[in-house]
Amino acid sequence: MKIPFDPKSHPSWNSALLRACRRESTSFTPVWLLRQAGRYMREYREMREKVSLLELCRTPDLVAQVTTHAAERLGVDAAILFSDLLLVAEPLGFQLEFTPGEGPALSPTLDTAADVDRVRTVEPGALSYVFDGARATRERLPDHLPLIGFAGAPFTLASYLIEGGPTRSFEKTKRFLYADGGAWRALMAKLVPALIDLLNGQIRHGCSVVQIFDSWVGCLSPHDYRRYVKPYTAAVIAGLVPYVPVIHFGTGTSALLHDMREAGGDVIGLDWRVDLDEAWGRIGYDRPVMGNLDPVVLFASEDILREQTRRILQRAAGRPGHIFNLGHGILPDTPVDSVSRLVQLVHEMSRRP
Ligand code: CP3
Repeated sequence: MKIPFDPKSHPSWNSALLRACRRESTSFTPVWLLRQAGRYMREYREMREKVSLLELCRTPDLVAQVTTHAAERLGVDAAILFSDLLLVAEPLGFQLEFTPGEGPALSPTLDTAADVDRVRTVEPGALSYVFDGARATRERLPDHLPLIGFAGAPFTLASYLIEGGPTRSFEKTKRFLYADGGAWRALMAKLVPALIDLLNGQIRHGCSVVQIFDSWVGCLSPHDYRRYVKPYTAAVIAGLVPYVPVIHFGTGTSALLHDMREAGGDVIGLDWRVDLDEAWGRIGYDRPVMGNLDPVVLFASEDILREQTRRILQRAAGRPGHIFNLGHGILPDTPVDSVSRLVQLVHEMSRRP
């Protein structure tokens, strides 16, 4: 594969996913699933018995294997590069660990403006294993399947650096915002270029779409979103290779959708807490959307799965620019057959002449 990779001249540029990102017609609704490679899949668990999550993320051949296997096993219309939102924390100067059952832990955490001063500039090459993983995956993946690259949005990444791990209240993050606006701006000035480089690097090495995960932004008021988040997410998006579609995803974002649209992204991700058509109307039908099945529906009977899938497709009403997905990631105990059944159902129910 030639580096830099040129998404426009790759066969996947005309895939259903890419066409939907551009609001072009497609003969069926493209579907892929958040966390489609993960613990719910036996082959993934077997791999994880041999290597830790971080070793897996750092080994391009294994990344290519896990990413490609999940996409092919499910019959989805895109692969998402196997990686993690928090890998970029290491070259920024944090120690990253994943402990089974407890999730990620970062140290030392950011508490004060002086801590922000210590955040490092990501050295060129520090994340080259991510790019090598993208290249190896692109080489292994069937030509028609697009590869999605990703990064955290500045807010969601910062929330982990400040909290040090998962949280429900985001109390430390919000206290940080309110205590010292200058420190927050200084932190954003360090994260934005690091995220731009991470996303553009993935594009240059084989990704033809990128997703920005602002998974936890729904914890903020619309006012705080506009003040503390929107300018920085917008700056990341503005720094990306211009014609490559960007999916801008968050959860709990019903009150933020208009501002998320303005921050940018060719596709806006929706979780299940909104009716797809109502939310899409507020965003504007001229902007593609992705979503929005509740991942817990994958534990329900085939009848419920069918009914809920049909309801989402009916709400999308065959308009160009709908990408089917879950509203958030597949849960670890999800039955894998139910996941591949969902993909089949979306394809069957949405087929257009
Ligand atoms: O197919 C895919 O989507 C896999 C690629 C992927 C991973 N992480 C691998 C992973 C992606 C897209 C992510 C993104 C990610 N990582 C996010 C944003 C996505 C979202 O859910 O909103 C976040 C917040 C993280 C940080 C992170 N990584 C957490 C909070 C955890 C622990 C959660 C848990 O279930 O234990 C991880 C671990 C992680 N990253 C797993 C996977 C598949 C869990 C499985 C494992 O430990 O092997």
